[in-house]
Amino acid sequence: MATARWPCLVLALLSGLAASGFPRSPYRLLEKRSLPEGAVNGIEVYSTKITCKVTSRFAHNVVTTRAVNRAENAQEVFFDVDLPKTAFITNFTLTIDGVTYPGNIKEKEVAKKQYEKAVSQGKTAGLVKASGRKLEKFTVSVNVAAGSKVTFELTYEELLKRRQGKYEMYLKVQPKQLVRDFEIEVDIFEPQGLSMLDAQASFITNDLLGSALTKSFSGKKGHVSFKPSLDQQRSCPTCTDSLLNGDFTITYDVNRESPANVQIVNGYFVHFFAPQGLPVVPKNVVFVIDISGSMSGRKIQQTREALLKILDDVKEDDYLNFILFSGGVTTWKDHLVQATPENLQEARAFVRKIGVDGMTNINDGLLTGITVLNEARKEHRVPERSTSIVIMLTDGDANTGESRPEKIQENVRNAIGGKFPLYNLGFGNNLNYNFLETMALQNHGLARRIYEDSDASLQLQGFYEEVANPLLMDVEVQYPENAILDLTQNTYQHFYDGSEIVVAGRLLDEEMNSFKADVKGQGAINDLTFTEEVDVKEMEKALQEQGYIFGDFIERLWAYLTIEQLLEKRKNAHGEEKENLTAQALDLSLKYHFVTPLTSMVVTKPEDNEDQAAIADKPGEGTPLTPSRSWMVGYQHPQTSHYNYVDGDPHFIIRVPEKEDAICFNIDEAPGTVLRLVQDPVTGLTVNGQIIGDKTASPDSKARRTYFGRLGIAHTHLDFRVEVTPEKITLWNGAAQSIFSWLDTVTITQDGLSVTINRKKNMLVSFGEGVTFLIVLHQVWKQPPGHQDFLGFYVVDSHRMSAQTHGLLGQFFHPFDFEVSDIRPGSDPSKLDATMVVKSHRLVVTRGSQKDYRKDANGTKVVCWFVHNNGEGLIDGVHTDYIIPALF
Ligand SMILES: *[C@@H]1O[C@H](CO)[C@@H](O)[C@H](O)[C@H]1NC(C)=O
Ligand SMILES: *[C@@H]1O[C@H](CO)[C@@H](O)[C@H](O)[C@H]1NC(C)=O
Ligand SMILES: *[C@@H]1O[C@H](CO)[C@@H](O)[C@H](O)[C@H]1NC(C)=O
Repeated sequence: MATARWPCLVLALLSGLAASGFPRSPYRLLEKRSLPEGAVNGIEVYSTKITCKVTSRFAHNVVTTRAVNRAENAQEVFFDVDLPKTAFITNFTLTIDGVTYPGNIKEKEVAKKQYEKAVSQGKTAGLVKASGRKLEKFTVSVNVAAGSKVTFELTYEELLKRRQGKYEMYLKVQPKQLVRDFEIEVDIFEPQGLSMLDAQASFITNDLLGSALTKSFSGKKGHVSFKPSLDQQRSCPTCTDSLLNGDFTITYDVNRESPANVQIVNGYFVHFFAPQGLPVVPKNVVFVIDISGSMSGRKIQQTREALLKILDDVKEDDYLNFILFSGGVTTWKDHLVQATPENLQEARAFVRKIGVDGMTNINDGLLTGITVLNEARKEHRVPERSTSIVIMLTDGDANTGESRPEKIQENVRNAIGGKFPLYNLGFGNNLNYNFLETMALQNHGLARRIYEDSDASLQLQGFYEEVANPLLMDVEVQYPENAILDLTQNTYQHFYDGSEIVVAGRLLDEEMNSFKADVKGQGAINDLTFTEEVDVKEMEKALQEQGYIFGDFIERLWAYLTIEQLLEKRKNAHGEEKENLTAQALDLSLKYHFVTPLTSMVVTKPEDNEDQAAIADKPGEGTPLTPSRSWMVGYQHPQTSHYNYVDGDPHFIIRVPEKEDAICFNIDEAPGTVLRLVQDPVTGLTVNGQIIGDKTASPDSKARRTYFGRLGIAHTHLDFRVEVTPEKITLWNGAAQSIFSWLDTVTITQDGLSVTINRKKNMLVSFGEGVTFLIVLHQVWKQPPGHQDFLGFYVVDSHRMSAQTHGLLGQFFHPFDFEVSDIRPGSDPSKLDATMVVKSHRLVVTRGSQKDYRKDANGTKVVCWFVHNNGEGLIDGVHTDYIIPALF
């Protein structure tokens, strides 16, 4: 049976406890000869495994280390793990000679008493403390008897946040000795499919890792494995120390064909939103920079360097200004100025000359910056559709002017009035970070620490890049009323390119069949509403079939996000509100077994009621940027029977409601040809279509099948264009371009214009009341090879188009008449021929039918009189008159 002395153990997260340099062992002088290679002070760590399972950004990591005491007396065994600051520990167990001591989550106060008791009895404490920029260190030690084995198992979970286009997971690798079985195994499952996956070790180049590192991904799954042999771990061929010491980083991203993705399991849902291809919203940026005496030397030099680099990235549509503060305030310009090349040149000269002196008047610096932005808006100096941000950098606390932190916060809050975010960058450690963080959170922004190091200017630039490209403003995610409970944050001031909005919640009715979410936001040019609709049962089934890596992860993801947001809100709350937030966060932490700042983990001896220990506080930073929200709008088929269209091969169908009949014709032209479909010189609208052919081009033009593969709609008066292909939809407003995919369900509105894409089905383009077009996407089986997707074009409403409208379809928008007579069996006896008099021509026509795909992919049959020879006699002129050189 175990001879280990009861492990003296407290897992404590003690904030600010700067315990450094843990002694590895009290016994430094040990005979080495009887010990296996790599053992340090008699302790052989023979196995270390890090297993990570990531499902839909939610990472579940287990670190297991096994060791044996080969010394002749009891030894202290240490277990260190560096985990991300944003992670929550969820479990810790200790197994000594086969006996497992499980960890239990307790409210911090309760745990603290046990912890104090343990400490007073001379027992050692486990600690979590800050360790570097992104990590914190969990350390625990136990006393293990000679010959005994010990296993440590730590589990932590976190939601990976998307930044600058990727998710990153850090694993600190630092075994301190050669380990016989060393292994990192990462499995990633992302229902959207992976678009890239990489793994890098900071301590060695990937070439040298050779067979030790494998990484692969395909479809929804990715895998990374790192298994260095003993020889591969050596710092040199004859060395017995380990070269494994540093960061092991896994980065990946998912496919972004669809702007949103919803997953529902067991009544919990998560909604990811990150649209691509939208133009950037112009920014009005005020940099408020501390130039007090303490910034002198390297800090101000790095700040200048960063600002110069940032100026290289500023876009011409942006507006900017610099406010410098020390004891007083200096402004570069009286007003915000546009980032023209001349102004940027001047700004660079200004930045190069920034010097330092004096005290720190944060209050006046910030208020000046905010006033500049408020005035620019009031005096219409900046574009209507633009977004404002304040970026403040300081390295110390306010010590002149208004220096009471609460008063400064109040002034800033009142001046900003919720209109734009404030980002506070704290340079170095010599400042009240909580003050900066609270103030930023009060103004929809966030705080970041800039570490005093050689890369400080890169850190500053990196932060700027995250906020440099807002794609949407005032984002709100909406779900049907009375369908959702316990929603996490669903409104965001901005969605920044490269980030992602994540909203989670619970379904009121678990048996719900269809789930719909709208994300609304203001883009650079138009208002957008993205709609995501999912069939709940179908999705659950698909997820089950694909074998989700761990079952209740969406519920845990929801709990993680909820706790994170409650804790964030709590930083900024007082009195009863704070108590309520605390109570809610505590309940959830206990229920879901998360070690948060409100809870601790206590490791207990199973047969003993004497609890032994507690856990940790988190240094409060590193909150990533969370983006804004998203949207979608449903589309209703306009009810009208009067419409013309072209679809299929291309078949033109002209409905003549007065006759309750229709006329049809084909245009047989070579792939590549562009045809004018609609042109109205009065409203400025044109629609053109380009023909594509099946890829297996038949030399016989009669047998060749052709379709419309590209459609271009242009409105010259609005300076608006849209190009549609079966792959994507591109919108131009003047020079600004937005790209959407057929996987989007989105409505874009602006000045009476509205474009609605209905995922994989169709697209409605409406120029106010009276002009509405529908484009239908035909997705075909790719077998036999050569078949291609194509488009159909339907004029749903044209009553506001002028009498001068022309084009292959446009000429039929005006009422016209025809007479059919002498109906008789045709040259093909299964069909009827007739004589048609139309536009003063006498034509032989054949009864046929075509399909109308407005409502669904199966189509409904429409009977029509077919006019032969490319519509000759029916259309004005000949069909080649409608051939034009280019889509626009
Ligand atoms: C903690 O880990 C131990 C060992 O793997 C396991 O038996 C136990 O069920 C875990 N506890 C929780 C709450 O997950
Ligand atoms: C706190 O919670 C109680 C009970 O749920 C509620 O009545 C009260 O209004 C809450 N107070 C605040 C400030 O949210
Ligand atoms: C198309 O027809 C098939 C077979 O009749 C049917 O199962 C399917 O539901 C139809 N699709 C639509 C969209 O109506």
